[in-house]
Amino acid sequence: MRRKVTVVGAGNVGATTAQRIAERDYADVVMVDIVEGMPQGKALDLNQAGPVVGYEPNLTGTNTYDATSGSDIVVITSGLPRKPGMSRDDLLAANKEIVGSVTKEVAQRSPDSIIICVTNPLDAMCHVTLDVSGFPRQRVMGMAGILDSARFRTFLAWELGVSARDVTGFVLGGHGDTMVPVTSYTNVAGVPVSQKIDSTRLEEIVQRARDGGAEVVKLLKSGSAYYAPAAAVAEMVDSIVLDQKRILPCAALCNGEFGIDGLFVGVPVKLGEGGVEEIVEIELSDQELKDLQKSAGAVRELVDAMANL
Ligand SMILES: NC(=O)c1ccc[n+]([C@@H]2O[C@H](COP(=O)([O-])OP(=O)(O)OC[C@H]3O[C@@H](n4cnc5c(N)ncnc54)[C@H](O)[C@@H]3O)[C@@H](O)[C@H]2O)c1
Repeated sequence: MRRKVTVVGAGNVGATTAQRIAERDYADVVMVDIVEGMPQGKALDLNQAGPVVGYEPNLTGTNTYDATSGSDIVVITSGLPRKPGMSRDDLLAANKEIVGSVTKEVAQRSPDSIIICVTNPLDAMCHVTLDVSGFPRQRVMGMAGILDSARFRTFLAWELGVSARDVTGFVLGGHGDTMVPVTSYTNVAGVPVSQKIDSTRLEEIVQRARDGGAEVVKLLKSGSAYYAPAAAVAEMVDSIVLDQKRILPCAALCNGEFGIDGLFVGVPVKLGEGGVEEIVEIELSDQELKDLQKSAGAVRELVDAMANL
């Protein structure tokens, strides 16, 4: 039987994610949005691309949740994006309400699903989804690290004039200004990047990766990045649907791993049909571990702030 993937929020990230998943042709896709007619129109348009691109036209657009029943995976992208000059944290109050109400709807109808949260501020929204759904921590996660790492890998590939496919790298920590590009695990075809780029230049590239989202927001003037975010979500969906057991940086609830307790933070995760099957505790330098824990502290502040909203 074909799988079912629901994408809540049919805006920029949601609709592009739905397109990428439909093109995989392993799942039916349901798009939900509050704007009347919009998810229906986008679903119809995407269905009509099926015969040309070569996938089954099995997308549904809706303003209610009945069609989402029995989903294997739910991707939550509903909520406000950043405007120029805004930080992700400025979205906290508005998006907490939206993500909370959406989670309630989908968790009721798809009690066995795996939920991937995308809405910002990402790590805090994962807490909302976990709390409202009551799902075990293996089945609630957030997308951020793959995107942040992809930005880092892109800039490194440009710097070295090599294929981005041969550049690996992990960006861990919260999806905010304290994210932690782990240069000790970043290499080009197995060669540590520190042997190829001097530390001053590497720090500049790290900073550009950290500011990668804001750089796009500034150029777009309205809205934020969505092509790379959607690609990153689709990579997570692949790993779950196809039980690939990829090791990918994702926001997961740490229960003691890396000395972090009870917080969603970007960490290396083994992703398979069970969701977060393992948090992979790679060895970090003292400084990297300190930076990761500092980043977790920033997530803690947001979680505490949410309690007072
Ligand atoms: N985690 C990441 O790395 C990452 C990357 C990019 C974007 N984001 C975040 O993803 C979110 C979506 O970004 P976007 O660019 O797609 O924004 P967008 O404005 O294009 O789309 C958001 C959609 O959510 C819908 N929506 C609002 N409330 C809803 C509700 N209660 N139920 C259903 N739908 C609802 C809106 O109508 C809109 O269509 C933002 O919070 C953004 O900051 C996160």
